[in-house]
Amino acid sequence: MTVPMSSPNDPLDVEAIRKDFPLLSRTVHDRPIVYLDSASTSLQPRSVLAAIGHYYEHTHANVHRGVYATAEEATALYEGARRKVGAFVGAADPRREIVFTKNASEALNLVVNSWGRANLRRGDAVVLTEMEHHSNLVPWLMLAEAIGIELRYLPVDAQGRLDLCDLDKILDGARAVSVTAMSNVLGTVNPVPLIAEAAHRNGAVVVVDGAQSVPHLVTDVKALGADFLAFSGHKMLGPTGIGVLWGRQELLDSMPPFLGGGGMILDVALERFSPAEVPWRFEAGTPPIAEAVGLASAVDYLSAVGMERIVAHERALTAYTLDALGDRLGPDCRVFGPPAGGDRAGVFSLAYRDVHAHDVAQILDQFGVCVRPGHHCAKPLMRRLGVSATARASIALYNDPSDIDTLVEGLAHVGTVFG
Ligand code: ALA
Repeated sequence: MTVPMSSPNDPLDVEAIRKDFPLLSRTVHDRPIVYLDSASTSLQPRSVLAAIGHYYEHTHANVHRGVYATAEEATALYEGARRKVGAFVGAADPRREIVFTKNASEALNLVVNSWGRANLRRGDAVVLTEMEHHSNLVPWLMLAEAIGIELRYLPVDAQGRLDLCDLDKILDGARAVSVTAMSNVLGTVNPVPLIAEAAHRNGAVVVVDGAQSVPHLVTDVKALGADFLAFSGHKMLGPTGIGVLWGRQELLDSMPPFLGGGGMILDVALERFSPAEVPWRFEAGTPPIAEAVGLASAVDYLSAVGMERIVAHERALTAYTLDALGDRLGPDCRVFGPPAGGDRAGVFSLAYRDVHAHDVAQILDQFGVCVRPGHHCAKPLMRRLGVSATARASIALYNDPSDIDTLVEGLAHVGTVFG
């Protein structure tokens, strides 16, 4: 890694950071790539790719099974990754409170199917929000279909924030609240500590979808007031194929297994089984070992750069982007979500005049600009916004104002093409 250690107040040396990400050196349609799709998936620094390669070349073996040297080394790397990832989000006991899953969706499905099925009964209420990703919506809808729980929704206001006017009323009698910490469409940073405090006052368990927030904000599960936090490796500079569930230990300990298979049992007979301790109880089958090694390396990278500095950089670039889109494109370009400020992160869902989001994204591609068109796995929110799709640009620590200038140049060209 070439990023020099710096003090928390130093601005990021984005030029040096960009050199760490090999994919940023390629061209697309003879133009330098401008990667503005980190809300979909982030890029990986060379150190992460090297850690995964080194693991496969020197250590690869299954974990928790063999007694030979590489098997024990692989197990130590895997369990070391668990500790590192847990410490990154402020887990009190990372060894017991971090479960590795396939992705954030699976982590949320684990909560719904294990905690939910064990604790909820017909008629029990669970509070979600109108801005949830399908990952934090469909599993609850499936549970509602299966056992008849009631789903209530916190609405989204005109600026793209949660409307909390009726928070206590909506929470009244609810057994759980499941909320995203940061909208993958609007960039809204939700006041999770406030919602969690109210939820706990009402006796509800708090589930937080951190897939978008953990890569871009300083995360501390205690400060959030969460009981569960789900997030993904591939959005935080790590590889695909690994997600994380942090849970309060007494809750995890009380929960039945979600998936059955190898590695998650204490004993099995033909008539019955007894589950293993947490967290292994929730990790059926060969786990994502190389992915955990890669994720630990991503955590090292983010920590070496410093999450406070990343937050400051992305906040400044968010303000720059909102200004640039507003000043240079005017009313042709509608940007959803709150204005620049402490509760606005670097996700920009755009509608350019009435041009379809896919056309916008295809023209931007000719400029080397990568954005995601579509409903962003948040169809109810799209309906609330009155659109079927948006073109979404999203930033990370390796973006700078020149990327935004190219985005604006491409969007101006959309105006020319669609006259
Ligand atoms: N959840 C990811 C996104 O918002 C894939 O694009």
